[in-house]
Amino acid sequence: MSVQQHALWQNRWTFILAATGSAVGLGNIWKFPYITGEYGGGAFVLVYLFCILTIGVPIMVAEVWLGKRGRHDPINSLRRICHEAGVSGGWTVIGIAGVLGGLLILMFYGVVAGWALEYVWQSFKGSYTTTNLALEGHFGELTASSGQQIFWQTIFMLLTCGVIAAGVVQGIGRSVNILMPTLLLLLIMLLAYSLLEGDGASAARFMFAPDFSKLSGEAVLVALGHAFFTLSLAMGAMLAYGSYMPDDAHVGKTVLTVAALDTIIALVAGMAIFPVVFANGLAPGSGPGLMFVTLPLSFAAMPMGNFFGGLFFALVAIAALSSSISLLEPGIAWLEEKGVPRVAGAIGLGLVAWGGGLASIYSGEVFDFLDKITAQYMMPLGGLLIALLVGWALPRQWVRGSGELAAGSYNAWYLVLRYITPPGILLVFAHSLGLL
Ligand code: TRP
Repeated sequence: MSVQQHALWQNRWTFILAATGSAVGLGNIWKFPYITGEYGGGAFVLVYLFCILTIGVPIMVAEVWLGKRGRHDPINSLRRICHEAGVSGGWTVIGIAGVLGGLLILMFYGVVAGWALEYVWQSFKGSYTTTNLALEGHFGELTASSGQQIFWQTIFMLLTCGVIAAGVVQGIGRSVNILMPTLLLLLIMLLAYSLLEGDGASAARFMFAPDFSKLSGEAVLVALGHAFFTLSLAMGAMLAYGSYMPDDAHVGKTVLTVAALDTIIALVAGMAIFPVVFANGLAPGSGPGLMFVTLPLSFAAMPMGNFFGGLFFALVAIAALSSSISLLEPGIAWLEEKGVPRVAGAIGLGLVAWGGGLASIYSGEVFDFLDKITAQYMMPLGGLLIALLVGWALPRQWVRGSGELAAGSYNAWYLVLRYITPPGILLVFAHSLGLL
């Protein structure tokens, strides 16, 4: 069987944008603030940042490197690399779990993205002034209506499959070029507004003054899981995107750029949301509805709030779109190498994820289960395997000789990947299971 020539992105900038598009999504704007609220603020944020630095970034370098070296879909990249290195083909399980895990995430991710789309619709209808979009009211109604959620989730999945079907270069590479910078701009505007009108001091205290007595074992595991989730790690996405990376792009530098952008956007989103929470006497731990019940308060008070609200939720949906395509891409790329055309693959896998989405709409337990099993178990375990494969199983010269990292940063990275990352993940597991 001949393997077709893999398409490559034109330049390193497209890779950065696509990888940032994958990383920046609902995880940053929706999930990060609400779990920070639920798990007590500062101490949680600190653990999260620590996980990004010592576990997330080293694994991201390893995963992108694997993809770039493999130059195939995640499963076949791993198979080839292992074969070439003469190590067990069992490591391919990382790719298989990634393809499956991406689908599992999409089964709840698409539902939340659908909520954002519904808020776009409400905003442009001018609902901030007529009905009360803020607080629990509207969010409660929306999440109680299966019909509406199915409608919006379906639209979102159609968009996802449309971009996927259009292809890696045309679809993914192009769309992120304009959208990501616009999102950042709007978030900064929202941040400025929150700081001027809301309670910025309480928000800063909540997010950055750590109170370790509030830190539970579960919180540490959630922080670790979120470090993986927000950087799109261990689900084959970075393996797939790494395989489209042009030869002359350096893995180390680009990964640092993506991780920094992702972290900044999460912190900015938090600092845009919490001043509103505190200024209005709301509970920071109010759960998944946090963004949906607080930000409309800002938009309702703002001049041209309907417009800015609509624009904001549209950009959230777009950020979700550039992430959801990376959840589907590993499976699509794999099918493509099996001879299934992209369009057919997009329809097939899209239907699977859409069907799972129905299950999360009808059952809150399914929704929570999918979130938990992927973020708290599949990703940390997948990440552990990636660290062990690149740090211990593969020949040392492969990575060192590839010139992907400057000598100094190579040494630091290799050391962390071997000796800090794997024990770190195991420690968090042990801690959360109450063994420590
Ligand atoms: N990183 C995305 C977010 O924060 C979600 C995501 C996209 C993802 N692709 C992924 C998570 C692959 C894990 C693996 O919204």
